[in-house]
Amino acid sequence: MTAENGPVPTALSQPQDASAFPPGFLWGVATSAYQIEGAADRDGRGTSIWDTFSRTPGKVVNGHTGDVAADHYARYEQDVALMSELGVGGYRFSVAWPRIQPDGRGPADRRGLDFYRRLVDSLMENGIEPALTLYHWDLPQALEDGGGWLNRETSYRFAEYAHLVAEALGDRVRIWGTLNEPWCAAFLGYSKGIHAPGLTDPAGSLRAAHHLLLGHGLSVPAIRAAAPAAEVGITLNFYPVEPDSDSAADQDAAHRIDLLQNRLFLDPVTDGAYPADIRAHVERVSGTAHIHPEDEKAIGAPVDFLGVNYYSSYRVAGGGAATGPTEWPGAEDVRFIDRGLPRTGIGWEIDADGLRRQLVRIERDHPGLKMYITENGAAFDDAPTPEGEIHDTDRLAYIEGHLRATRQAIEEGADVAGYFLWSLLDNFEWAEGYGMRFGIVRVDFDTQVRTPKQSALWYGGVALNNRLPE
Ligand code: NOJ
Repeated sequence: MTAENGPVPTALSQPQDASAFPPGFLWGVATSAYQIEGAADRDGRGTSIWDTFSRTPGKVVNGHTGDVAADHYARYEQDVALMSELGVGGYRFSVAWPRIQPDGRGPADRRGLDFYRRLVDSLMENGIEPALTLYHWDLPQALEDGGGWLNRETSYRFAEYAHLVAEALGDRVRIWGTLNEPWCAAFLGYSKGIHAPGLTDPAGSLRAAHHLLLGHGLSVPAIRAAAPAAEVGITLNFYPVEPDSDSAADQDAAHRIDLLQNRLFLDPVTDGAYPADIRAHVERVSGTAHIHPEDEKAIGAPVDFLGVNYYSSYRVAGGGAATGPTEWPGAEDVRFIDRGLPRTGIGWEIDADGLRRQLVRIERDHPGLKMYITENGAAFDDAPTPEGEIHDTDRLAYIEGHLRATRQAIEEGADVAGYFLWSLLDNFEWAEGYGMRFGIVRVDFDTQVRTPKQSALWYGGVALNNRLPE
């Protein structure tokens, strides 16, 4: 571009006001099916691996399950009305695969599809943009019985399921996410065993990771075939990783954790190939026979956006003793260093600037990739006042800090089109059960009464004004 064309339109041409977000920025909230819906046996829903896992004694704190959860299946209209009152502009939710195909294969169950049709229609009547995720970890148990994500058959079944949902909802949903956090599904589910299906097979977990990615890649054209206008992407959970020192052992530890946490899932999606160091790591831990010649091309099917989930960052050191299966296949020796940062109620260190660094790095490594922050938020143990108000100032501060970091990343060139706060409602926090509350709306799980917390009222104001307070 020459000088006569005027200034180059970079992100710096966004509003210079450091508190304002770009016009059209999508302000949303997020949830997932198993965490809020309940109604586990309603309308023909099949059993998922999370039903099985949570009903197994000792797997979830206090033996909690998602059987009732926040009863959203029955109360979705009330929840949509609440979002509308708060002023939220987008809603990221997931479809429960076992409501659509109770056994993970075969024709779609109309009752399951109808629920999501009603939900989406209600959102649209209220001017709220739906952002649909196809897989938020509730794999039909029947597929797990056939090997689950250890078996590449599951990738093909997932693409078929994606096609069925896209055929039914493609006329009214624009934003389509394939997988949510395949890192958790693969490594917490199949290596560390603290998530469903609860296996401790590090080599297997790398095969699961590949089959999840393959399922993603096969589902992209399947969605587009049924919903040509769809914007399709994948949501990954990112953690910036830094070495504790510049020693070779610490640098190597940081490289392996970054490889397993961030690059294993992003690089093949954006580049259509596993970089050599990733392939070498997989080769060493599990072999690569499960990676078939055409798979990487399929995984690299072009996406329209990347969903970024961000909660925290890591400092790591090498040279520890391997401890048996962890969530880090091939990095079980790595030590995670306590930086002394303040922590949220679930124990995660708070590093708002890590979100800025992560977004800027993605833009640097994959220029022009449009991003939505599909999750960010915090668990805190907020008790209501005698008047029933919830002054969750710690959650509010967490959200504000991360929004300022996001705004800064946009200033530095990251293409961030929206932010979905995790979570609309207190919900079933997986292995932690209902004790960890991430909602900006409190749920009393005895009465199912919803009470917006101070953070919800504050966030609604930010969404309506498209800017942070000065
Ligand atoms: C990641 C997951 O996608 C979501 O299900 C979970 O509740 C939050 N982060 C908090 O852990």
